[in-house]
Amino acid sequence: MDYEESVAEHYGSGDVLERLLAAVRNAGGDPDHFASADLRGADQLHIGGPAATSRVAARAGIGAGTRVLDIGSGMGGVARHLAGEFGATVHGVDLTPEFVAVAKELTQRTGLAGSVEFTQGSALELPLADASFDAAVVVHVGMNIRDKDRMFAEAGRVLRPGGILAVYDIMLLGGGTETYPLPWAASAETSFPQPPLAYSDALGQAGLEVDSEAKTLAEGIEFLERALDSGGPLGLAGPALANLLDAFRAGLLAPVEIYAHRP
Ligand SMILES: C[S@@+](CC[C@H](N)C(=O)[O-])C[C@H]1O[C@@H](n2cnc3c(N)ncnc32)[C@H](O)[C@@H]1O
Repeated sequence: MDYEESVAEHYGSGDVLERLLAAVRNAGGDPDHFASADLRGADQLHIGGPAATSRVAARAGIGAGTRVLDIGSGMGGVARHLAGEFGATVHGVDLTPEFVAVAKELTQRTGLAGSVEFTQGSALELPLADASFDAAVVVHVGMNIRDKDRMFAEAGRVLRPGGILAVYDIMLLGGGTETYPLPWAASAETSFPQPPLAYSDALGQAGLEVDSEAKTLAEGIEFLERALDSGGPLGLAGPALANLLDAFRAGLLAPVEIYAHRP
């Protein structure tokens, strides 16, 4: 199995949609028509959930009418949040076929299909035209991608001049070795966390200029402590979350945001 198949197999479990719709039903909602917010962030697979998405959107200057590319869009929670809460028009691209199918279905059921669309594809070869977006977001995706130079070259290609790239990933801060499983990978085979400096270098190689960087370790620790208490989002395996929390506490890994623009 190549690396892209391994990533898709890691994320696609076959019953993602059913589990999300059951959560809506259990909360008293109608699974055929509901508001994006009724999913309570269960469709956003990153530290901080919807609150972190709002922070990233504000820092990236995303607002009404912004054309946003969501690279590694997962179940589409980030894309729907940017459309529903900020008025953006969003195109999500993701490698995992099941996530793309779930993202489309949830977007229909939440009435956002007019402003959000999804395509199955790779961040390393975006099936999209040059200079067609005002902003791009990469939220907890780079940990699965070895070739960050190529990912950022592709992001830079589809951004218009002046367009903003917001990267919010788990990055490598200290020396030491991660313990697996982690939420994005069962083993080191599909896991490539790198230091913020490696990201900045790759962004520079892609012709993008870095504007700012922010680490949110304390919030990350709090978020994981709460997630572990409540059984984890989508029932995500406890050991993966516990290993990530240990790595945060040890200063080995941390959530980091980097903002850059295409000159
Ligand atoms: C941890 S999830 C984050 C999903 C979403 N950004 C969110 O915050 O909810 C990582 C996602 O990256 C996708 N992914 C990993 N490698 C990719 C690649 N090379 N191209 C496109 N998507 C990729 C996975 O399929 C998965 O949906």
